[in-house]
Amino acid sequence: MKDKPKIYNQDVLHHYQNPYNKGKLDDPDFSVTEENPNCGDRITLQLKLKGDEISKVKFDGHGCVLSIGAASILTQMVRGLSVGEASELTLDDLVDNMGNPPKMRRNCVSLSLDALKDALSEW
Ligand code: FES
Repeated sequence: MKDKPKIYNQDVLHHYQNPYNKGKLDDPDFSVTEENPNCGDRITLQLKLKGDEISKVKFDGHGCVLSIGAASILTQMVRGLSVGEASELTLDDLVDNMGNPPKMRRNCVSLSLDALKDALSEW
């Protein structure tokens, strides 16, 4: 019998079960919430800048394995980047760091990235 394709790998599951940078910042420079209207899952991403560098980042919210896993992975990717570098991150960059989950679930992956893009567009 053929194995079903996996929606997420063990690394993503680990991030879902033990998310990095989950919580709230005391004094964020930016705080943006994105919601997936299809399921109601919601992620809030908060950033603190030092100059033009992202010095602190946290996320909070609820969602599926892919949306929470993506948020955890994304926060690790962006900390220490400049605003310009973080603005250039793409969905493909995030997907590549998640073991390439199926295309039909990309809206789950993009929730936190959309919040990041919205936050940085206010800078
Ligand atoms: Fe809601 Fe994934 S099922 S964001």
